Amino acid sequence: MIKNTLFLDALKGKHVERPPVWMMRQAGRFLPEFRALRDKYDFFTRCQTPELAAEITLMPVKRFPIDAAILFSDILVVPQAMGLNFEMKESVGPYLENPITSESDIDRLQNPPIEESLGYVLEAITLTKKLLDNQIPLIGFSGSPWTILCYAVEGKGSKTFDKAKSFCFKNPKRAHVLLQKITDYTIRYLLKKVEYGVDAVQIFDSWGGLLSPKDYDEFSWNYINQIIESLAPKVPVIVFGKGCWYALQTMSRSKASALGVDWTITPQKAREFTGGVITLQGNFDPAKLLSSPEKIYSEAQQMIRDFGVQRYIANLGHGILPNVPLENAEVFIKAIVEFKE
Ligand code: CP3
Repeated sequence: MIKNTLFLDALKGKHVERPPVWMMRQAGRFLPEFRALRDKYDFFTRCQTPELAAEITLMPVKRFPIDAAILFSDILVVPQAMGLNFEMKESVGPYLENPITSESDIDRLQNPPIEESLGYVLEAITLTKKLLDNQIPLIGFSGSPWTILCYAVEGKGSKTFDKAKSFCFKNPKRAHVLLQKITDYTIRYLLKKVEYGVDAVQIFDSWGGLLSPKDYDEFSWNYINQIIESLAPKVPVIVFGKGCWYALQTMSRSKASALGVDWTITPQKAREFTGGVITLQGNFDPAKLLSSPEKIYSEAQQMIRDFGVQRYIANLGHGILPNVPLENAEVFIKAIVEFKE
């Protein structure tokens, strides 16, 4: 049994004394010990070496009194397993030499057993669970099918992902074949992660907010919901849709246990759109962690008052920035842990 149940209690809607807290991208570049490893091993080597992935997952846990760990990995390991050779290029980010452009590219995608293609993630889960020693729960994750399509078609990051969007708009039928393939493989992957011991899963739809509400339903939500339907009977599911406030009402009617929100919506509006019936997670502006410790402390506590203590998981509205001073991240966590009604 896991000792600190705050995070799982909040996901279940059980009464809590204070909200749980973790930070998206907490196992990342703002940690000096992470940057030290970075000089020795390239990014995907760190993902593919279970001992390293487990060690990195534990880094923020050792530093801060956070209520959940998130497995160190990347959303792009899924398309890699399907045969797309993503690399992480210095000052470019994710890069794919031959992005998907045609039906035959989609036909060529592979569907190997998860233990074969992503066995290293499963091993990392086993190791991490051992190291965590039931102190706090472990979150597993995947990208949303739409967000994976964005990288698979664009071949790299983009502000607009217009290639990915035109791929969908020009030939929706073909896009749906690709989205369904990614969805089916993602479901198998997440179910395996659950089998190996993750206590909750989060779906990152980082680029959902680039779509209109109508296109979001068609190209993103439709597939996220398939993942929720398959996973929710086994494990709590959190959906984080960056910029997707317009879809919160639809999302709240699904079997997800929690919805992540970014800082472009007020807590009050997010509660209103979701009818107060679902746990919300977020939404501190990551750039606010670059302000003064006093401001971070008071604004983080105000965020709790605005969301309410129950059915709430304190977090950032997106990943922590690499240039955030450690003390400021610490103050953010402290503000939540010390919160009293
Ligand atoms: O949250 C955590 O601590 C767990 C680890 C995690 C990483 N990536 C590690 C990582 C998680 C949950 C992700 C998810 C991810 N990866 C997303 C969705 C979340 C989001 O932020 O929107 C996306 C879009 C990716 C794809 C990806 N991987 C990008 C865009 C980048 C950044 C590239 C850059 O140079 O800025 C990565 C690299 C990455 N993934 C890093 C980390 C710690 C930085 C790696 C490094 O340069 O050493």
